[in-house]
Amino acid sequence: MKLARFSRIGFILAAAGSAVGLGNIWKFPYITGENGGGAFVFVYLITVMIIGFSLMIAEMMIGYLGRRDSVSNFEDLAPRHKNFWKYGGFMSLAGLIIMIFYSPVIGWTFHFILLSLGSLPSSIELAEKSFTEFISIDLGSQLFYHTLVFIFVTAVVARGIKGGIEKLNFLLMPVLIITISGMFFYATTLAGFTQAWDFMFSSDWSKVTSASLVTAVGHAFFTLSLGMATILTYSASLPKDSNLVRSSLIIIALDTGIALLAGLTLFTFLYEYGAELSAGPGLVFISLPTVFYEMGFLGNIFAFVFFVALASAGLTSAVSLVEPIIQYLIDRFSLSRLKASLASGLFFYLFGIVAILSISKEYGHYFTFGSKNFFDWADFMTASVMLPMGGLIMAVFVGHVIEKERVASLLKTQLGMIYPLWYFSLRYIVPVALFVVMLNLVGILEL
Ligand code: PFF
Repeated sequence: MKLARFSRIGFILAAAGSAVGLGNIWKFPYITGENGGGAFVFVYLITVMIIGFSLMIAEMMIGYLGRRDSVSNFEDLAPRHKNFWKYGGFMSLAGLIIMIFYSPVIGWTFHFILLSLGSLPSSIELAEKSFTEFISIDLGSQLFYHTLVFIFVTAVVARGIKGGIEKLNFLLMPVLIITISGMFFYATTLAGFTQAWDFMFSSDWSKVTSASLVTAVGHAFFTLSLGMATILTYSASLPKDSNLVRSSLIIIALDTGIALLAGLTLFTFLYEYGAELSAGPGLVFISLPTVFYEMGFLGNIFAFVFFVALASAGLTSAVSLVEPIIQYLIDRFSLSRLKASLASGLFFYLFGIVAILSISKEYGHYFTFGSKNFFDWADFMTASVMLPMGGLIMAVFVGHVIEKERVASLLKTQLGMIYPLWYFSLRYIVPVALFVVMLNLVGILEL
């Protein structure tokens, strides 16, 4: 099955659109807040630069050389034990599991877009009450927004790489970049900016625990869309003679840049208006709306622009989360794109409903297993377990399984002097780091 190709800029926008998502604007600021700021940001940046960079190129390479869906690529590129390695391709299932909680959260952003047109909560207590009621009692509204996301995402992916995904990114990525940069420039004029800068860039190592290291690594994967065959699948549609290294650098720079801009902007607003910095997942949905209220009418405009940006970031990532499995269904089972899109869409739609029920007051206990509800399990199993595991498989595959000469002939000229460094990092540093993270995660090793 021949894939429609991205244009060069279309690929960059789509891959950056995948990387820049709720993770950058919703998750990054709150986990930075919870983990004490600077030192955490430092660990995260180092991880992005070493592990993220090495793996982004490796994942792109598998797609670029293989040109098919993730399972077929692993099978085709493995010189031996093809039947074993093809299972590496099933990491693409992680995308559907992420969508189980990602889609409801995009739904929340729709709710806040509407809210920003009316009256915003005037105090933290009110904001907390209205958000908690929305997610734990107002099942009807959440279901409605989740349904909208399902219809939208399915309609886009059903149109394919060029007519659907590339077009969506051409439309929404500029919106996102302009709005976030605009808000950032406004933030630099406020007094709270200096405090925000200090918070994010001055390190207090006493706050960094082994759990925060795991969170930083997990987040680096999540935010760069690594370890679940999204980048691999998009790269299968790269135009010939693309420069993988340059593309990786641009995508990583855009993703990291937007996370830092969003973080600095949010913390500036929060400092400026004295709101809580370590408010957890409620940071953007509870603390921020009260800050916007304090700003008066300007705040309503900011709130609208901010939540539109957040929704745009979420939607361009959502399409990339379902695309790998769609390619797989088309390639291996000869399903039509429409049928493949509907099948994947229905999967996350139905389990997404379970996730919504699992955070509700009335039904939550039916869907809570051990320490977490279904919604949190989907987040934990993917960001903290499946993506690092997928990354480990890819690093071993490109570093130790694919023939050395094949890797070198594609990347030696593109990487130039740093080729040996990259190859070494992929073969040894990345696998060991990921292995340690995973041992730590299951509690075998306490760092
Ligand atoms: N990178 C996206 C974000 O930061 O929100 C989420 C994501 C998209 C993760 C695609 C993984 C993925 F393959």
